[in-house]
Amino acid sequence: MSQGSTTVTEDNKPVTKLVDRFGRQVTYVRLSVTDRCDLRCVYCMSEDMKFVPREQLLTLEEMSRIGTAFVDLGVNKIRISGGEPLTRRNILSVFETLGKLDGLTDLTLTTNATLLEKYAQPLRDAGVTRINISLDTIQPERFTKITRIGKLEKTMAGIDKALEVGFDNIKINTVVMKNFNHDEIIDLVEFIRDRGMDISFIEEMPLGDMGDHDRALSYCSSDDILSELREKYNLVGTDESTGGPAKYFRFIDSNGDRESESRIGFISPHSHNFCDTCNRVRVTAEGMLLLCLGQEHSMDLRQIVRAHPTDDEALRNALIESMQIKPKGHDFNLNEQPIIMRHMSATGG
Ligand code: GTP
Ligand code: 5AD
Ligand code: SF4
Repeated sequence: MSQGSTTVTEDNKPVTKLVDRFGRQVTYVRLSVTDRCDLRCVYCMSEDMKFVPREQLLTLEEMSRIGTAFVDLGVNKIRISGGEPLTRRNILSVFETLGKLDGLTDLTLTTNATLLEKYAQPLRDAGVTRINISLDTIQPERFTKITRIGKLEKTMAGIDKALEVGFDNIKINTVVMKNFNHDEIIDLVEFIRDRGMDISFIEEMPLGDMGDHDRALSYCSSDDILSELREKYNLVGTDESTGGPAKYFRFIDSNGDRESESRIGFISPHSHNFCDTCNRVRVTAEGMLLLCLGQEHSMDLRQIVRAHPTDDEALRNALIESMQIKPKGHDFNLNEQPIIMRHMSATGG
């Protein structure tokens, strides 16, 4: 057995955990199940994307196997991401397998909601605990401009359906960009508050070449957004966590009481680096384990699962070994060419 940090559970079963060289434990895995998407958001994809040939993708069974091996090693949260995860054929089977795993307390999905009308109920039945939905604008024309091809009404219908089937804690993800949607932050906050949802405002990250979309020009810092929101709302920071990088604020009334169930989160890779507390790794749809979103350190899990079709010990050992190459953090710089040429859609966010 490779090194790892071993403890015992309540019923005395030894559990080897994934602990890296800096003492950070990996408890959160983001599994990207496809790099394809039915939208083309300007900050995520270029106009003429080349996708991975289907035969190079992990099978759904291989994805479930990898997810299971992580849970065996103490991972308690898996987020299915993409591309748009719901465009992958038969994807429900992955949710159904993972949803049954003891030890997995949070089975989550990041989606653009275009297919949620169809999938919200089956996802809930499969044990999905939370859904995050990408939505940068609630203006129909602007939505088509930012996504290049999308129709707002389809995304809205998906959001309504997710609420209707009983998902609570839905979180909207908004990448805030000057000259695109910066003027809508209040409208978006009203939109989520009316529906009891949360929102995360995200600083755009320099991943992949975006053609003529200039990231330095569109950059909005979380602190600026927070100051603008504070002109209208009384917001107080909390130390609540959803396991991801967002820092949350709550609405407080003049008596100091909570005014709404909704929370406003900020994901600030540029202005407030959160790498010290990183608890996560990613697996791409081709089976590359990425140890950091902003670095190239990786391990080929597809080759390992295919070389050991029935032996999960080899896979678990490889995951433990991978902790030795998890880097300390990212080096994003908006004013330079991106150092990471993978697009966000290939990485899974
Ligand atoms: P919660 O489970 O709700 O906390 O979700 P999450 O924020 O972890 O996931 P989501 O898929 O909603 O991602 C929101 C944004 O956070 C995306 O832009 C991700 O790329 C970004 N993000 C998530 N993890 C990391 C990370 O480790 N590093 C960086 N730089 N960004 C991250
Ligand atoms: N920078 C920041 N966030 C991004 N997303 C996609 N591309 C980027 C980027 N370049 C967000 C989407 C989605 C999440 C998975 O990642 O809004 O909600
Ligand atoms: Fe698709 Fe999400 Fe990328 Fe937009 S951000 S193109 S919805 S994967």
